[in-house]
Amino acid sequence: MTDVIVQLRRIPIFADLSQFDLDKIASLVTIQHCKKDSLIFLEEDMGRVLFMIGKGKVKVSQVNDDGKEVILSILLQGNFFGEMALLDGSARSATVTSLTDSELLILRRGDFLNLLEEYPKVTINLLKELTKRIRQSDSQIKSLSLKNATGKVAHVILRLAEDTGIIKGNSIEVSGLPMQQDIANMAGTSRETVSRVLSKLSESKLIIKKGGKITILDINRYRNFFA
Ligand code: CMP
Repeated sequence: MTDVIVQLRRIPIFADLSQFDLDKIASLVTIQHCKKDSLIFLEEDMGRVLFMIGKGKVKVSQVNDDGKEVILSILLQGNFFGEMALLDGSARSATVTSLTDSELLILRRGDFLNLLEEYPKVTINLLKELTKRIRQSDSQIKSLSLKNATGKVAHVILRLAEDTGIIKGNSIEVSGLPMQQDIANMAGTSRETVSRVLSKLSESKLIIKKGGKITILDINRYRNFFA
């Protein structure tokens, strides 16, 4: 139970709740463990529960008309998913797969909707989080419409840095980088192009790439370069 409460505290929608309220929510939660690369649910499935990521990392994706995977987002510990089908009663809007071994906290639809009615703070925090996702999607649409591959890949790296990076002065370190094929599926380009663009960004001294880690050396210079 203590572990569940620690994990609930990391979920932004519950940020303002008291220990008493968190205890109550913890008693409603069940835990699901899933192995790396396992399917959590498919686009078009019916949605009956909300998922919160206690540990691990998941990928939210759709398949386009050409049968290619398009990655909408990568969500980490402290994020939630599956709220859309619960809120509007439609089917799941995307497929979710675990990228690492993960521990998920699960809340049933009825309990989630009751919490939104009972705690206005949770509802406001949920709206803030959904607003953030719309902003990210707007930025992704803009970058997908760019003509050049460098700009598309550079935007994905910037988004990963903003979502998961550690700020050190002017630079941002992003570790646990997705596979190059996943970066390609976020940018709407090929794995070979991602590899070529990362080398180009390194040569231009905009980033340093070492294994699964990228450091954006000067975030303002990087942003201006692609503005
Ligand atoms: P739901 O439609 O129930 O199932 C798929 C989930 O993926 C959805 O709820 C959201 O939680 C999540 N999702 C869908 N689109 C995005 C997006 N653009 N960014 C982040 N998460 C998303």
